[in-house]
Amino acid sequence: MPPLRVKGFEIHVGYLDVPAQQALVAAVRGVARAAPFFTPETRRGQKMSVRMTSAGSFGWISDRKGYRYAPRHPDGTAWPQLPAEVRAIWQDLAPGAPDPDSCLVNWYGEGARMGLHQDRDEADFRWPVVSVSLGDQALFRMGGTDRRDATESIWLSSGDVVVMGGDARLAHHGIDRIRFGSSTLLDRGGRINLTLRVSQ
Ligand code: SIN
Ligand code: MN
Repeated sequence: MPPLRVKGFEIHVGYLDVPAQQALVAAVRGVARAAPFFTPETRRGQKMSVRMTSAGSFGWISDRKGYRYAPRHPDGTAWPQLPAEVRAIWQDLAPGAPDPDSCLVNWYGEGARMGLHQDRDEADFRWPVVSVSLGDQALFRMGGTDRRDATESIWLSSGDVVVMGGDARLAHHGIDRIRFGSSTLLDRGGRINLTLRVSQ
């Protein structure tokens, strides 16, 4: 099926079948055993509602020193390797781009959300961002490069993959809310998002 295109965002609906989603959840569990989920804080000391960890050479972290790519988990250990299943998705949907050096894992429990933002901490905006949804449905808001641009929203389901490249590479986006318990993929409900990027 060709991807859905909304404001330059490429949405691959149903890209992963259930066994592929389960394999990714198992890979995420492995990542979280080596690099436990933590609750990031903003520079102003506000706790984010999403819990995070990462795989790859660089992880994305946020604390009172600000947000940035870092070679180590806040506990001081190196991030685990990027799972092979994750790299395969990138190679299929971002052909010609260098391999991602970062896989951010966002975990949304009940009530978690992600405010409208741009991904712009990376060195080279030629490379896209590939974002994988697992578990509960999420209301994904898409805007433009200017924060005040009009937005459109769609519900993302488990197995959907969004590619933000080209004109949408620096577009604002966020998760307004999840439908907690709408998927049976994760034993205790919730949603996992994997964000693959070339950070350096
Ligand atoms: C993000 O942009 O950091 C996360 C998007 C998502 O959870 O789908
Ligand atoms: Mn983002």
